[in-house]
Amino acid sequence: MHAVAIVAAAGSGSRLGADLPKALVPLAGRPLVCWAVEGLLAGGVAEVVVVVPAAQRAEFEAVLPPEVTVVDGGATRTASVRAGLAAAGSAATAVLVHDAARPLTPPGAVARVLGALGAGALAVVPVLPVVDTTVLVDDDGLVVDAVPRAPLRRVQTPQGFDRATLEAAYDALEPDAELTDDAAVVRRAGVAVTTVPGDERSAKVTVPHDLALAELTLTLGET
Ligand code: CTP
Ligand code: MG
Repeated sequence: MHAVAIVAAAGSGSRLGADLPKALVPLAGRPLVCWAVEGLLAGGVAEVVVVVPAAQRAEFEAVLPPEVTVVDGGATRTASVRAGLAAAGSAATAVLVHDAARPLTPPGAVARVLGALGAGALAVVPVLPVVDTTVLVDDDGLVVDAVPRAPLRRVQTPQGFDRATLEAAYDALEPDAELTDDAAVVRRAGVAVTTVPGDERSAKVTVPHDLALAELTLTLGET
């Protein structure tokens, strides 16, 4: 199976609050996007497309390996993934979509997604259980109800897809639709989404504390 990975790296990282795009922020001296690309290649993808903010394209090209294709992103993650999909080489039969903001995703987590695609799944997401008590609140912040936790899962990336299935789902999506992940795009097209175990190390860097945790993870030699 020839898989292309699309790395969504075109966000600004407003919640992280750095003075450069989040994907260029260093973790142990290397930009987050470089860590993410390395994990995908080690996990078995054949080709990588990185979607970047148009204004910082040169900075990304300077740090990424030459075999990576770099394309300009859009105003939303959905638009950025669309741009990446359009730039994927013709040999790929499978697509993994990954967040640059998940730098320490282990190769094994990537390989589990590829394995499920190889076994015939059309769409695959890595998931973890919810460990906190989870509640519904009203507009005033009052707890309305506790949600049964057992069937809940936290969804990570990379998410894997049969290429034709993902392309058809994006083609069918309204042009200005904004969904938080790609499994939501194929589910809207009626495609069943399979789950595989995720990994805590695939955590997303969103706020400064997450970056501190990623630095600590490396110090502990957990990856
Ligand atoms: N992303 C993207 N294009 C956008 C917005 C987001 O490619 N227009 C990417 C980000 O670069 C990130 C991933 O989608 O790797 C997940 O998004 P998020 O963690 O929300 O990153 P940002 O949008 O950059 O951060 P924030 O929401 O705090 O501004
Ligand atoms: Mg965002």
